[in-house]
Amino acid sequence: MKILICTSPDDAADIAAQVIARTVVATPDCTLGLATGRTMEAIYARLVMRHRAGDLDFARCGSFNLDEYVGVAPESPNSYRFYMQDHLFGHVNIDAARTHVPAGVGSDLRAAAEAYEAAILQAGGIDLQLLGLGENGHIGFNEPLSALRSRTRVVTLDEATRVQNAGMFGGDPALVPTQAVTMGVGTILDARSVLMVATGDGKAEAVRQMIEGPVTAMVSGSALQFHEDCLVILDEASAAGLSQRAMIAYQMQHDPDLRFLVAGAIG
Ligand code: GLP
Repeated sequence: MKILICTSPDDAADIAAQVIARTVVATPDCTLGLATGRTMEAIYARLVMRHRAGDLDFARCGSFNLDEYVGVAPESPNSYRFYMQDHLFGHVNIDAARTHVPAGVGSDLRAAAEAYEAAILQAGGIDLQLLGLGENGHIGFNEPLSALRSRTRVVTLDEATRVQNAGMFGGDPALVPTQAVTMGVGTILDARSVLMVATGDGKAEAVRQMIEGPVTAMVSGSALQFHEDCLVILDEASAAGLSQRAMIAYQMQHDPDLRFLVAGAIG
């Protein structure tokens, strides 16, 4: 795990967008794993700006999103498919046929989840998986007690998650579906690289558990400690609970990869 602590959420979004852009430039036919949530909005806005400026070509990219609500149709403004269309897909030249979001409606969601796993494999796996962090420490919708080897499946959402995500449902947690389809922790760990972005003081405790806590199914983000190529981008607020700040600052100064990213953000 490499950790970069930025002074502000804007800086965190700048660097995250830069990491994604570099992947797309270096590997034009890459497969991106994409995430939703408020944290991602600033990142997608930056990717759209770069595309409009002519710097970023998504024509050969494919994508797989992490999750979708059960019972919410793709055309509903509450769906993650709609979110992706609204924040990214509708504004860049990615081929719609190569964008994938798990199906939240259908007669056999279990079979659809298995087919989703097969489609990821058929695409050659995910090159870069973008992740946000739930306030309860989840990645995707892998709620507490999710098996660390889990695959794409239907899950029941934690009450805390329904409260956290009520914004998309008019602010009423009761309107947030009780179930979702999510890539599993095992699916996420199979990505060749992982980019986790968490900002704001609401994430500080989850960030602490993800980075410094034991690996536990109670905090699916902690499974990222097993990943060999995982970059975590934080801001000061989300990093506030970490006890190892001096060590992280030292690595930010001396690790060539981290120095390169920081220099790129400033330059
Ligand atoms: C939802 C998504 C997660 C995401 C989380 C963070 O729960 N399923 O994948 O990480 O939101 O959301 P936000 O960025 O809004 O805090």
